[in-house]
Amino acid sequence: MTDASELLALALDIAKEAGDLARRRRSEGVAIAATKSAIADIVTEADREVEDLIRGRLAAERPGDGFLGEESGAERGTSGITWVVDPIDGTVNYAYGIPHYAVSIAAVEGEPDPQQWSALAGVVYAPAVDETFSAATGEGAWLEGRRLEVSEPSAAGALLATGFGYDPATHEGDLGRLARVMPLARDVRRAGAASLDLAYVAASRLDGYFERGLNPWDHAAGALLVEEAGGRVAGRPGERPSTLMTIAAASDLHQRISDVIYV
Ligand code: IPD
Repeated sequence: MTDASELLALALDIAKEAGDLARRRRSEGVAIAATKSAIADIVTEADREVEDLIRGRLAAERPGDGFLGEESGAERGTSGITWVVDPIDGTVNYAYGIPHYAVSIAAVEGEPDPQQWSALAGVVYAPAVDETFSAATGEGAWLEGRRLEVSEPSAAGALLATGFGYDPATHEGDLGRLARVMPLARDVRRAGAASLDLAYVAASRLDGYFERGLNPWDHAAGALLVEEAGGRVAGRPGERPSTLMTIAAASDLHQRISDVIYV
């Protein structure tokens, strides 16, 4: 039996070191290393360097664990635990000098597939503001010593966040969903880092969040934060979060968002 608190302690330590490196590299200037799935989907030298740091530390401290990272790919382990890592979530913000980006690290058990895994521990660390959101299964979600709880929207409507994928072909569908969700909203944010959108739902800085096109490393840690803060995270009806859809909110709002997205 793996102790989720031990995994969380390690994730916290590594996320801090990784975030410090990302912040330092940002202050020195950012170089775009390559484009990925689309011309707007970029990777910086810092993304690669930060992921190498995280991967190297995990390999040294837990050599039997698997790894699934945004920049360096997947490797199966032997322990049943996989680390799911986005070294810099919000890369476009990072490249433009917008301080809304995060290191996201989750430890999951079971098949390294969000439809099948159980998340054990998760950390979303925002280095530019030095904020650490963390959760371990059954132990709640926390921000700097404060236990987090998802919010219920007020009569003014829900403060919602969403995102738009890098592939222009998907934007018409994204905008159609946004138009259908809009009547539930008091306002909508598109801040540019999915892990922080989820962390903010956990911290009741947002009432809800939905987005199509996320990768496992975008939501692995953030989804655990929301669940441990009493919220619900799911994908398409009856499914867990996936590339096809991720919705996070308190249960009632979650249902209302899902109802209008899937009319
Ligand atoms: C992206 C961000 C963005 C979301 C994209 C993600 P990246 O991650 O989380 O908010 O809209 O879908 O890919 O590329 O910055 O790690």
